[in-house]
Amino acid sequence: MPNRLPAQRYLTVCRERTNALGECAAFSSEHIAVIYQARPLHKDRSMKDETIDALELLRQQHDEVEELIGKIENARDSEKKRALFEEFADKLAAHSTIEEKLFYPTVMDQKTRELLIESTEEHLSVKRLLADMMALDVDDEHFDAKLTVIKEQIRHHAKQEEEQSLFPKVKRLLGADERAALGNEMLAMFETLLEKSPRKQVPAETAEPAPLPAV
Ligand SMILES: [Fe+2]
Ligand SMILES: [Fe+2]
Repeated sequence: MPNRLPAQRYLTVCRERTNALGECAAFSSEHIAVIYQARPLHKDRSMKDETIDALELLRQQHDEVEELIGKIENARDSEKKRALFEEFADKLAAHSTIEEKLFYPTVMDQKTRELLIESTEEHLSVKRLLADMMALDVDDEHFDAKLTVIKEQIRHHAKQEEEQSLFPKVKRLLGADERAALGNEMLAMFETLLEKSPRKQVPAETAEPAPLPAV
């Protein structure tokens, strides 16, 4: 996947991947170990207005995903249900990707390592369920059964693992400016991913957990 973000925002662990156009190639499938290079923001009011705290962005996305699950559960006609499911699957896939490629590598630390490894395993489990659901008709009773299971798994992962356990540690690791800069990078990647139906990549990501960089 080509990366549209400028290379100078990143300190990559393999600089030779930076191409002639100055683009960071760190998001290629075989290399995701991006080390985030914090840069000062909030130099003026207008810049501050444009930033979003990384943790707030992820929380908002968790809430949106949960809301979409509720809408799928309540959908009365198949066409509407399929459309809502595709929106849910795209947003969940893009959310997982920005966490695996930007958030988790950036917050990798002795204090977070165990939680991050567990998180990538939980992502894998959710991706397998999502891939199963994509292959089913939305009117199949197993679709609804899997929706119930994926809802429980997502709720556990997003609320307990991330919001309650991981985020407080991240808040101690990254300052407000670093979280704002990271939030902006993640939002830019999320929006780019959403343009390309990211759910379609999910079946290819079900063999093993996403790789993480060393501490
Ligand atoms: Fe996650
Ligand atoms: Fe998350």
